[in-house]
Amino acid sequence: MADDTKFLLWLLLLSSSTLCFGSELDIQCLKSVQQSVIDPSGVLKSSWNFSNGSDGYICKFTGVRCWHPEENRVLSLRLGNLGLEGPFPQGLQNCSSMTGLDLSSNNFSGPIPPDISRQMPYLTSLDLSYNSFSGSIPQNISNMIYLSVLNLQQNQLSGPIPAEFNFLTWLTTFNVANNLLSGPIPSLLRNFTASNFVGNKELCGSPLDDCSRRRRWRIHIRMHRINDLSSIGAAVGFVVGFVVAFYFPHCFIFSERLRAYVVLLHLL
Ligand SMILES: *[C@@H]1O[C@H](CO)[C@@H](O)[C@H](O)[C@H]1NC(C)=O
Ligand SMILES: *[C@@H]1O[C@H](CO)[C@@H](O)[C@H](O)[C@H]1NC(C)=O
Ligand SMILES: *[C@@H]1O[C@H](CO)[C@@H](O)[C@H](O)[C@H]1NC(C)=O
Ligand SMILES: *[C@@H]1O[C@H](CO)[C@@H](O)[C@H](O)[C@H]1NC(C)=O
Ligand SMILES: *[C@@H]1O[C@H](CO)[C@@H](O)[C@H](O)[C@H]1NC(C)=O
Ligand SMILES: *[C@@H]1O[C@H](CO)[C@@H](O)[C@H](O)[C@H]1NC(C)=O
Repeated sequence: MADDTKFLLWLLLLSSSTLCFGSELDIQCLKSVQQSVIDPSGVLKSSWNFSNGSDGYICKFTGVRCWHPEENRVLSLRLGNLGLEGPFPQGLQNCSSMTGLDLSSNNFSGPIPPDISRQMPYLTSLDLSYNSFSGSIPQNISNMIYLSVLNLQQNQLSGPIPAEFNFLTWLTTFNVANNLLSGPIPSLLRNFTASNFVGNKELCGSPLDDCSRRRRWRIHIRMHRINDLSSIGAAVGFVVGFVVAFYFPHCFIFSERLRAYVVLLHLL
């Protein structure tokens, strides 16, 4: 992230009221995350012990980084690869000065919140990769104007990449590989390599195949289907012809072998 962005971010955070009320709300935020997340290996249950209550005690929790070690204000939450499950964690909007969220390599499922930008407006890094998130990529992400890292690869996200992603000018890392996405890739994202888009059979446009070529392919396949249908039609006609021939043998002259076929078809 550029230094002037960091400075701007600092100014924003310092001037906002979150500085005064941050601590209580941030603790509330973590309690809510702990309650809403399914934690089969009990990592959060054991590490996130709220009984201490001293300044900066949450900063020692697994995955929690604070702005300052003696202040209960969450800078980022790094909960990658902890075996967590369930829907997108709840209550994150109370971690109101959080700049990084990493939920990668767990088994979170369900939709990404449609108001994610309202919940975490200052995120510079969002990593939801290697989970089971489904539904569409919220257009709301395009309002996260400080975002520089967005990793959504290896989920079950469907639909298009919102065209509004053309506003995410700070992006330095972007990956949506191996989802179920479709439609054209927004022009701003075309400078990222194809590996960040692969594994989505309906995505098109630079750096992948151009969209018109995809459409031609689809027409081609459809033509094939029509051909298949007409050959089925021909086969049906053939059978009907034989059956007619069977019932009105005096109209036709055919060999014993053909007759055997017709009998067989009739029995089926
Ligand atoms: C939290 O820590 C206190 C002591 O600091 C301990 O008595 C309590 O059992 C702990 N709670 C959990 C859930 O581990
Ligand atoms: C809270 O934790 C700090 C350091 O981990 C310790 O020094 C302090 O005594 C604890 N306070 C309480 C009330 O448990
Ligand atoms: C945020 O914290 C406040 C105060 O503790 C609480 O009333 C509210 O429900 C929390 N919001 C969410 C979304 O958890
Ligand atoms: C992940 O969760 C889904 C349902 O939410 C479940 O079907 C799947 O088996 C889980 N995968 C792993 C690796 O736990
Ligand atoms: C999207 O984000 C903006 C703020 O960034 C918020 O005001 C708006 O309500 C959000 N949209 C939805 C659908 O929640
Ligand atoms: C892509 O990169 C080139 C140079 O590497 C730059 O001139 C161009 O503006 C970039 N395009 C976008 C959409 O960022």
